[in-house]
Amino acid sequence: MFPKINPTTTKAWTALEQHANEIRPMHMRELFKKDDTRFDKYSIRFKDIFIDFSKNRITDQTLTLLLQLANECKLTDAIQALFEGDLINETEQRSVLHVALRDFSGQPVYSMGKNVMPDVKRVQEQMKRFCESVHSGEWNGYTGKRIKYIVNIGIGGSDLGPLMVTEALRPYWKDVQAYFVSNVDATHIEETLKKVNPEETLFLIASKTFTTQETMTNAHTARDWFLKTAKDEAHIAKHFVALSTNEKDVTAFGISKENMFEFWDWVGGRYSLWSAIGLSIALTIGYDNFEQLLRGAHETDKHFRETSPEKNIPVLMALISLWYINFFEAQTEAILPYDQYMHRFAAYFQQGNMESNGKSVDRNGEQVEYATGPIVWGEPGTNGQHAFYQLIHQGTMLIPCDFIAPAQSHNPIGDHHTKLLSNFFAQTEALMNGKTEEEVEEELLKAGKSEEEVAKLAPFKIFEGNRPTNSILIKKITPFTLGQLIALYEHKIFAQGVIWNIFSFDQWGVELGKQLANKILPELKGEDKVASHDVSTNGLINAFKEMRK
Ligand code: F6P
Repeated sequence: MFPKINPTTTKAWTALEQHANEIRPMHMRELFKKDDTRFDKYSIRFKDIFIDFSKNRITDQTLTLLLQLANECKLTDAIQALFEGDLINETEQRSVLHVALRDFSGQPVYSMGKNVMPDVKRVQEQMKRFCESVHSGEWNGYTGKRIKYIVNIGIGGSDLGPLMVTEALRPYWKDVQAYFVSNVDATHIEETLKKVNPEETLFLIASKTFTTQETMTNAHTARDWFLKTAKDEAHIAKHFVALSTNEKDVTAFGISKENMFEFWDWVGGRYSLWSAIGLSIALTIGYDNFEQLLRGAHETDKHFRETSPEKNIPVLMALISLWYINFFEAQTEAILPYDQYMHRFAAYFQQGNMESNGKSVDRNGEQVEYATGPIVWGEPGTNGQHAFYQLIHQGTMLIPCDFIAPAQSHNPIGDHHTKLLSNFFAQTEALMNGKTEEEVEEELLKAGKSEEEVAKLAPFKIFEGNRPTNSILIKKITPFTLGQLIALYEHKIFAQGVIWNIFSFDQWGVELGKQLANKILPELKGEDKVASHDVSTNGLINAFKEMRK
C-alpha cells in the first residue's frame, strides 16, 4: 500500500505556492510569444488521440514542480497498487479492479489472493453468447417474436455509463433500440413503456446491489406492466435479465441464476460500464464493438501503468487540473465535446469525478485544508457557445475547459463538420488570447464609431483571455478511441485522489439522503401531520400532504 501523505506538507506544494505567484500575472499570449516550441513540448499523441496542453498557464518549471508533487505523494506506487489489486478502497475493504475487466494481457490479476480473470472471462463469454443469441433471433420473446427493444433499468453508475456510451456510439447500433430508465419519477418508465411492447422487449435490471430504491421500483413497475399482457410468470425468463452482484435478491425478484450476469464488489458503480453493466452497450452495438471499447481502455491502462509521469497523459491531465484547483482557486471544470453523439459525456464524468473526489476527509481521517474535487459539467459545442460560454470568456471565475472533437464525422454532410471544428479551434484561441483594449479600439474605429463611442463601448468588448484549455482531437469516435478516452479521464480522477490523499472509490456522501428518504417514505403515506423533523421539513411535508389532495 502507498503512504498517506498530506500534499500540503510536501516541498513541491510550498514551491508551487510561490511559483503560482509568479505565473498569475503572466499572460499565455506572452508565453506563446516567448517560446514557439510550446505546442511541440506540451502536446502528446496517443494512437488516434492527440492532446494539446499548451494553452495552459504553465511553464517548464510548473510541470517540473507538479511532477515533483506527484513524486512526493508516491503516485507511481499508487498506480501499481491499483493494478495489483491492493485494497485501496479502504473504507469498504475492497480492491479497485475495473482495469481487470478490460485486461487482455493474459496475465492473472489478483484481488485478496484470488485471480479474478477466470471469472471475468467467464462472464464476458456469457455476455457474448447472449448478444449473439439475441441478434440472431435464437433468443426470442414469449410469443416467438424477435427482441426489438431493450430497456436498461438502473441509476448512477448502472445507467450513466451505458447511456453515455450507447449514445456516443450510435453509428454502430445494431437492429435493437435501446432505452434507459433511471429516475424513480414514474414519468420516466411510463414514457418509455409507451414506446415498446411486451412481446419484443428485453428488460435489463442493472444494479450492483439490487436494492437501490429507484431501480427496484422501476423494475417492479416494468414487471407488472409485462405481466398484464404476458399473464404467466414463466414468461419473465425471456424478458428480464439481471446485471448484479446480488444473486439472492435477483432470484427473489424472479430472475433465474442463468439469466443473471454477474460482477463483483471490486467493480465500483461509476466504473462498471466495463462489466456486465455494459450488457446494454454490447446488445446495442454488438459484442465485438463492446470488446473494442474494452481494448481501447486497456490501451490506456497500459499507458497509465507503464509511461513515465512526464509523458503520462492521465497524470498530466490530473496535475494541470490540480494546478488550477489548488493554486488558482478554480472550483469548476467544463468538458465540452464537439460531437453531438457525445452529449452525455460530461454528465457521465460529473458522476465519475464528483462522486469519486467530492471528499473533505483525507485518508488519515483528518479534515482536509485544501480544495479537492471540482464541479464538473458541460454540454456539446456549439450549443454551449450560445448558452454559457459568455461566463467562461468574460465572467469572474476561472473555468479550465477540456475541448474534445473528432477529426472525422460519422455524418460528413456538406460543410457541417468544418464549421463545427472552426468553432472548436476559434474558442480555444479566443479563450487563450482574448482581445486587448487596443485591438478593440482599432476594430471599433474601423467600424466607423466615434472616439466617444469607442471609449464607451471598449470596456465591454475587451476579453482578458488567459483562460486555460486542453484540446483533445480524436481521429474518429469509434468503440476503441472512446474506450481510450474514458479510461484517460478515469485515471485522471484516480491520480488526483492520490495526490489529494482522499479515498476516491467510496461514496458515503450519498447515504444520508437515502436513509432519510426511507424514514420519510412511510410518513408520506398517511394523512397525519408530521412533527418528527425540523420545522422547515415538517412544514414542507405537511404542505405537500395538503396540496396533493
Ligand atoms: O449514487 C450512489 C450509487 O451507489 C452509485 O455509486 C451507484 O452507481 C448507484 O448508486 C447505483 O447503485 P446500484 O448499481 O447498486 O443500483
